[in-house]
Amino acid sequence: MSEQGRPNVTVLGLGRMGTPIAAAFLRAGYPTTVWNRTTGKADGLVAQGAVHAATPAEAVAASPLVVVPLLDYDAVRRVLGPAASALSGRVLVNLANGAPEQARELASWATDHGADYLDGAMMALPQTVATPEGFFLYSGSERAFTTYRAELDVMASSHYFGADPGLAEIHDLALLGTGYAALTGFLHAAALLDALGTAPADFAPLASRWLTGMAQFLPELAREAGARAYDGGVSTVDLNRVAVDNLVRISRANGVGGDVHEPLRALLDRRSADGHGEESFSSVFELLRPRDAGQR
Ligand SMILES: NC(=O)c1ccc[n+]([C@@H]2O[C@H](COP(=O)([O-])OP(=O)(O)OC[C@H]3O[C@@H](n4cnc5c(N)ncnc54)[C@H](OP(=O)(O)O)[C@@H]3O)[C@@H](O)[C@H]2O)c1
Repeated sequence: MSEQGRPNVTVLGLGRMGTPIAAAFLRAGYPTTVWNRTTGKADGLVAQGAVHAATPAEAVAASPLVVVPLLDYDAVRRVLGPAASALSGRVLVNLANGAPEQARELASWATDHGADYLDGAMMALPQTVATPEGFFLYSGSERAFTTYRAELDVMASSHYFGADPGLAEIHDLALLGTGYAALTGFLHAAALLDALGTAPADFAPLASRWLTGMAQFLPELAREAGARAYDGGVSTVDLNRVAVDNLVRISRANGVGGDVHEPLRALLDRRSADGHGEESFSSVFELLRPRDAGQR
């Protein structure tokens, strides 16, 4: 505990994400204990005031709040396994990327060892940790989230989904999926323009501006998909079918594969063939959602 009453915090894992997380706790005045498999990565943080624990068990024992930004769940198990007996009475915040069932299994294991478990997902880059651009998702113990909300907010603004430990991971994957589609679309477009003489760096600012504008479209898509009502959209299946077909054909003609957009063209073709060409673009949702999913 610091003189200002801030609790000790332990950070296990000092990779690209763990290092700025530990640095953020130090900057915010938290006594911070760190551990990393490759010990040299702790040096910079020790120079900033961190305590370097010799073992994971020693690091866990040092703090009531243990934050774990390791590579994956396998690494978390390997590191925490020998430290299990030190977990009792502590809050464990696992920030490794994984699947919902892995989060539930780890929560059960941690609870069996007397820890309160919060699963987390970092919607941030190393450089956006502890900045307004980054945000972290949490699920699991509400008591842990409430008790340590101020400490969690040191890393990034915090969003809590509920008691099921898998909820943060499924939302993480959903957000990653949204981003991957946009980023892959950008790489495809950059390849096409590059082939035609426009450098990717020259295209990036335009693409960034376009994506920002497209984000304004999400509430409309969400409203239509949520209501399963697709007749009021500004942009129809058939209109977008023509654009996507043009994109695939022109890409191919310039030696750029159609791998990114052919799946979307197939969806639009199916929707149109089924008689829904005049419906909103969002009606593709009907081909993506489980067939037996009921109205919410
Ligand atoms: N980088 C990003 O932009 C980003 C953004 C959001 C979320 N994430 C997620 O954040 C998590 C950490 O990513 P990162 O970018 O910080 O990864 P990273 O730079 O590769 O660091 C991985 C960390 O895990 C440790 N580690 C890996 N395998 C281990 C093992 N078997 N035993 C003990 N320690 C092990 C590494 O230790 P050593 O130093 O000894 O190798 C290091 O501390 C991942 O789940 C990632 O998906 C990353």
